[in-house]
Amino acid sequence: RHERDTSLQRIRALLQKRDAVIVAHYYVDGELQELARETGGCVGDSLEMARFGAEHPASTLVVAGVRFMGETAKILSPEKTILMPDDEATCSLDLGCPADTFSQFCDQHPERTVVVYANTSAAVKARADWVVTSSVGKEIVAHLHARGEKILWAPDRHLGAYIQQQTGADMLLWQGSCVVHDEFKADELALLAHEHPEAAILVHPESPAPVAALAHVVGSTTQLIAAAGRLENETFIVATDQGILHDMRKRYPRKRFMPAPTAGQGATCKSCAMCPWMAMNSLGGIERVLTSEVGAIELDAALALAARTPIERMLRFAA
Ligand code: 13P
Ligand code: SF4
Repeated sequence: RHERDTSLQRIRALLQKRDAVIVAHYYVDGELQELARETGGCVGDSLEMARFGAEHPASTLVVAGVRFMGETAKILSPEKTILMPDDEATCSLDLGCPADTFSQFCDQHPERTVVVYANTSAAVKARADWVVTSSVGKEIVAHLHARGEKILWAPDRHLGAYIQQQTGADMLLWQGSCVVHDEFKADELALLAHEHPEAAILVHPESPAPVAALAHVVGSTTQLIAAAGRLENETFIVATDQGILHDMRKRYPRKRFMPAPTAGQGATCKSCAMCPWMAMNSLGGIERVLTSEVGAIELDAALALAARTPIERMLRFAA
């Protein structure tokens, strides 16, 4: 405890010295979320992180999340120093969509508008017409569909299928998935919901369709947190990374939040639904990057510029 407190103090001083703020995702450890808020940074979903990082005047951003979030920050603010507590923190969606194969896929379907999820590398984004996050993907595809455009979507097949079902758009789907959300099981969730008929079910759209079909609300992390406040239920079953429960319990201490069951774990699951890459973010990592002169995100300037256009299109749409 004493060691943690002194580490926190050192980080607070380093943030000031380096004119830095922490931009954190809801899936990182609760202690890091608190630190980010308390030191003038933010905790948000992917869209809010991108927006906050681009608008904040600090010259250095410590992105506590995964690689694509750091890259997005760098693409939007090339003049800023972007640090990440662990440079191994990636995402199965990003890993499952290599830029060269994806580019060939796009070449085979030149008539389609390319829409990619934010959980991708800068090189994949550079090939896109639009970048979307889970908070605005449905609205953007609905807008393109209304204009008569056909979509090539990558990489998350569940999010793609969900948007397709909601909008009726013509979508050709890349077959990627998130290792965390792919594990949620509809049968077990239905059993848990049966035991708790008073509970509302909140589901992130990276989950398989039969899981999303049981949801009262499907949405991005921020949208799920907002739903937990808005709905009158006192009990919630939450199908997304368990890191989000920290924020939900803090905001709504009188409400009860249960993690949705994953494969074979039943309702007593305690350690599943945790993104292994988000879990790499630590106080030690933050202190290390703030102390060292190396480890900042660097991107090829032409690539970053090409990736910026489809991200800015999303930010303008969502404004
Ligand atoms: P959000 O944009 O909803 O925060 O999702 C990001 C993510 O990686 C979900 O797994
Ligand atoms: Fe990627 Fe899934 Fe982790 Fe989100 S939870 S960062 S989609 S692997």
